[in-house]
Amino acid sequence: MSKKILVLPGDGIGPEITAEAVKILNACREAGLDAELEEALVGGAGYDAEGHPLPESTLAKAKAADAILLGAVGGPKWDTLEDLSRRPEKGLLGLRKHLNLFGNLRPALLYPQLAEASTLKPEVVSGLDIMIVRELTGGIYFGQPRGIEERDGERVGFNTYVYSESEIERIGRVAFEMAQKRGKKLCSVDKANVLEVTILWREVMNRLAPEYPDVELSHMYVDNAAMQLVRAPKQFDVVVTGNMFGDILSDAAAMLTGSIGMLPSASLNEHQQGMYEPCHGSAPDIACQGLANPLATILSVAMMLRYSLGEPALAERIERAVGSVLDQGLRTADIAYPGTRQVSTSEMGDAVLAAFADA
Ligand code: NAI
Ligand code: MG
Repeated sequence: MSKKILVLPGDGIGPEITAEAVKILNACREAGLDAELEEALVGGAGYDAEGHPLPESTLAKAKAADAILLGAVGGPKWDTLEDLSRRPEKGLLGLRKHLNLFGNLRPALLYPQLAEASTLKPEVVSGLDIMIVRELTGGIYFGQPRGIEERDGERVGFNTYVYSESEIERIGRVAFEMAQKRGKKLCSVDKANVLEVTILWREVMNRLAPEYPDVELSHMYVDNAAMQLVRAPKQFDVVVTGNMFGDILSDAAAMLTGSIGMLPSASLNEHQQGMYEPCHGSAPDIACQGLANPLATILSVAMMLRYSLGEPALAERIERAVGSVLDQGLRTADIAYPGTRQVSTSEMGDAVLAAFADA
């Protein structure tokens, strides 16, 4: 049966970068991918047109889709909205929650052609290839009770850090399976010396380990993990952690590669239904100028083909095509340096398309 892909361009550079990714998706369809594309509004674009960042019609289409490609949401235009539930970011959170997208995959991969883009020494980062598996729908970002209230004459803010065994187990399985497909090493990051939630987290990971005898499981406290990521990042293969630690560590890991415009992500539920998006935001400072790097979004399409559409060969073809345009010395402004040729957003997309034909 034909797969359904929902494209949500969103705000800022979102429409420019998703347009390039859609070119590649269409090339995949010509190469045999049986899929239909549909587009809908989300974020500020949804708010402007329908008064809500996640219009009902968009949510219905998202639920029916096998995979969603999202550009980015947000921008200064909506930052002054008083009603927090109408902010563009709520569109994203709503999709994650409604589709139960608990498994967030954040690769940090340094392309050898971009070694100069990293702030770390080449010998520390060359060949870097980490996959961070972050739990996305639980933990302290969602735990109840939460709030700010008056206690004993002063205001107190509080959040609740909570994970159930079943929540830990399902993200653990995603991570173990990912490690099996990669370098067979899994590092679980917690704060089990201080937080009970993560004592349970560690117990569950240890309980799952015998089911994946080919994977070497290790544990690390989150503060040490942050240090190790900048000291010797290549020691990591797959990292699994909760929502907040994963938020922070995945951004740090991403920056080791030096280029926010290169990093894709996937968020999956237990049916392999997924939302795919670049790690960066809507970059309003460069919107509508042809400056945005579309490669993170194009690489998100590769992840979509691999994890939701069952087309790993097409995914690899896209990744080879991206490697090939970098080999040709083509660079958008964010990754350009002397000796390379600067191209616009659409020129970059067209170059990937041309390379895809031969890849
Ligand atoms: P940002 O990621 O949009 O931009 C940070 C910096 O990186 C800017 O200088 C931008 O020009 C540059 N940049 C980002 N993507 C790029 C690309 N593809 N090519 C070249 N340069 C790129 O983060 P910022 O500035 O903190 O947020 C801007 C807006 O995006 C805010 O409204 C924020 O809420 C929203 N946002 C949305 C996210 C999402 O939709 N998933 C994630 C992060 C932020
Ligand atoms: Mg973050």
